[in-house]
Amino acid sequence: MTGMIYIGDEVLERRLPALTAGQKNFVLTDSNVYALYPEFFGKYFADTEIFVLPAGEEYKNFQSLYEILSAITKAGLHRTSRLFAVGGGVVGDIGGLAAALYMRGISCVQIPTTLLAQVDSSVGGKTAVDLGGVKNVVGAFYQPREVLIAPMFLKTLPAREIKCGLGEIVKYAALSGEIFDILETRDGALTDLRFLMTLIEACVRHKARVVEADEKETGERKSLNVGHTTGHAIELSSGLSHGECVLYGTWLETKAAIGAGICERDYGERLLRILKRALLEAPASPFDFSKLADCLDKAKSDKKNTDDGKIKTAVAKAKNEWTSFALPFDEYVTAIVKASEGL
Ligand SMILES: NC(=O)c1ccc[n+]([C@@H]2O[C@H](COP(=O)([O-])OP(=O)(O)OC[C@H]3O[C@@H](n4cnc5c(N)ncnc54)[C@H](O)[C@@H]3O)[C@@H](O)[C@H]2O)c1
Ligand SMILES: [Zn+2]
Repeated sequence: MTGMIYIGDEVLERRLPALTAGQKNFVLTDSNVYALYPEFFGKYFADTEIFVLPAGEEYKNFQSLYEILSAITKAGLHRTSRLFAVGGGVVGDIGGLAAALYMRGISCVQIPTTLLAQVDSSVGGKTAVDLGGVKNVVGAFYQPREVLIAPMFLKTLPAREIKCGLGEIVKYAALSGEIFDILETRDGALTDLRFLMTLIEACVRHKARVVEADEKETGERKSLNVGHTTGHAIELSSGLSHGECVLYGTWLETKAAIGAGICERDYGERLLRILKRALLEAPASPFDFSKLADCLDKAKSDKKNTDDGKIKTAVAKAKNEWTSFALPFDEYVTAIVKASEGL
């Protein structure tokens, strides 16, 4: 269901010649990746139409989707054509959606180039654009045919983007005992890229297993939203990056869950120690916590978390166990603001 996932720098040479042969294709990338990897594009996509989206979340919108679909139509792609999404989560999300829509679905190959995209967003088939200030509100479940994860792309990643990937990795620590143990016993820096690369496989394996069990997010896949209800609210109000906000969100929601007796205290405090280390090493851009209560209002707009007027989050309960945690909006705000006191 998740499509084939290949990890390792050699997968580009192993898979791309076969995947690009025999039909018209289309590449979506962003301006940073295109400028950084001329040899890669020249080698595998010399004769292919390449659409270069300006870099940044603000371009993950309807206008870009319209322009991409117009370019695909103009290039005359067929049902058998493929779209290659080469970039971070923004390119992956919008490229996947364009592939889902063109001729009711053409083959999509994800080639993630950020740590966040390699450990998380390229796998699982969630595609989307933002609209009207609401993140990911228009989208589709559309599985890529293949995901080619080449860690060599990460060498050019700015430090801030490494921290963003760490945000999603720490989310996996809240769900997978295996990743929790690796992070808890780690002596060196959690932001060390060579160390983080060794976690790609475990994160992808965890995500693929969850998606196989629950592709359309009616049950277990909801666990992958750990830290995201609060994280998205902070992201929309602050302009901080997704991964940074997930780090804050996971901290705040875990602390609130411990306070409410939902998360086992001993385990929860160990998880908070990992999160604290990640936050200290990867200080997210300054966020004014005095504005936290106001920005949590955005949690109401997130389609996944509102249920009977309650705000819903997924939280770690114990090692390898999660649960959903729903609170009336006012109580949610009180719990999260109280949790922020330790930051
Ligand atoms: N579909 C999913 O399941 C899922 C999961 C998590 C996040 N997301 C989405 O992913 C997006 C965030 O992804 P992201 O953090 O990758 O953001 P991004 O795509 O904006 O990439 C971050 C920055 O890194 C640059 N970049 C990309 N590859 C690079 C490289 N190899 N070297 C140097 N710079 C590079 C980009 O140009 C951009 O400036 C959000 O829109 C979020 O909603 C989706
Ligand atoms: Zn995320």
